[in-house]
Amino acid sequence: MKTGEVRWDHLLYNCRAVDPRPDGRGYAITESAAIGIAGHQIVFCGSMSELPFAAAQCAEHLHDLAGRMVTPGLIDCHTHLVFAGNRADEFELRLGGADYQQIARAGGGIASTVRATRAASDDELLAQSLVRARALLDDGVTCIEIKSGYGLNLDSERRMLQTARRLAAALGIEVQATFLGLHALPPEFSERRDAYVSAVIEDWLPALHAEGLVDAVDAFCEGIAFSADEVRRLFVKARSLGVPVKLHADQLSDLGGAALCAEFDGRSADHIEYSGPAAVAAMAEHGTVAVLLPGAFYCLRETTLPPINALRHAGVAMAVSTDLNPGTSPVCSLRMAMNQACTLFRLTPAETFAGVTIHAARALGLADRKGRLQCGFDADLAIWNMNSPAELSYWIGAPGPHSIWIAGRERR
Ligand code: NIG
Ligand code: FE
Repeated sequence: MKTGEVRWDHLLYNCRAVDPRPDGRGYAITESAAIGIAGHQIVFCGSMSELPFAAAQCAEHLHDLAGRMVTPGLIDCHTHLVFAGNRADEFELRLGGADYQQIARAGGGIASTVRATRAASDDELLAQSLVRARALLDDGVTCIEIKSGYGLNLDSERRMLQTARRLAAALGIEVQATFLGLHALPPEFSERRDAYVSAVIEDWLPALHAEGLVDAVDAFCEGIAFSADEVRRLFVKARSLGVPVKLHADQLSDLGGAALCAEFDGRSADHIEYSGPAAVAAMAEHGTVAVLLPGAFYCLRETTLPPINALRHAGVAMAVSTDLNPGTSPVCSLRMAMNQACTLFRLTPAETFAGVTIHAARALGLADRKGRLQCGFDADLAIWNMNSPAELSYWIGAPGPHSIWIAGRERR
């Protein structure tokens, strides 16, 4: 490069760059840092003193960050944010003594959100979901996973996945769409369980996959939902289609879900409050990420903790996510989930930071390009009026980031 040649699109300088460490022990901090962006990618991240030229010659647009902290954009790797209506009425019932499983068996719970979601028009569904997605962005999130599972018929599941795609386009962010047909048994199949499971596995999954709507497959493996044998059938089919799998596993009881998911090289086993040592060993062996969802733990007033120490000692990557959903986790802030992960699950703030960046990226199969401030990674950044990364987990309800960058473009 000749002196004076403008090479990058943007140079962010005079900042403190904070990258996660994969082992969750502390942070990789660069003081007086600069970040170069070309197109949608980071092309330089290091100390200002290592810049190849004077700052003004490195890039077309210069941004003095006045000492602010820069992190990778946060990644919410487990949400159900596309749905219609809400379940504040069940919140009141639970406070009056009813429990989640009782409400589900009485036709409430997931089934009530299914009714509202089926009844909503495409535009209503998009509009209601956009409000929640924007709340996540306002909190520093730049990449989101969204599950279907409130349609439970082919047309409504398709509409949910299409809404996830429309959200991505409307917000200019990357959204991963996950097919969660085995979320609950819809009422029209209440006497025909096998027919429902077969329809999801043999018909809907291949059809939606062929339409390009399925980035991954998930299921709810639980006494009130689907058995390990049913999930196994789903995973066999997903594997034959080349679709990655993940699982709501061992949330309310231990059906062996996390171990089953690992057996299929699942990207993540999520919740896992009731997982035992065999599950942890299988996850370590297969590189399956543990996605911790303290919002659901908190809202259900669960008392059985995920096996955090065992996961830590086995070297299983731990991600943290909101589980944003109308029933068990109406949490529209990933930083709230970070705080809960520290306070309820005793993760360290450094582990939690890794859990919403590098490990969340891995849970989505995006570890080669998201979740880190490194050359060649996507230029998804969050810029904070904070000094220390522990503040991300520490504050509750504090103002969001100063700005975020998504794919090399600044958003305020
Ligand atoms: O992740 N566990 C299953 N699915 C959601 C809850 C869905 C709902 O109650 O609407 C969860 O907790
Ligand atoms: Fe969930």
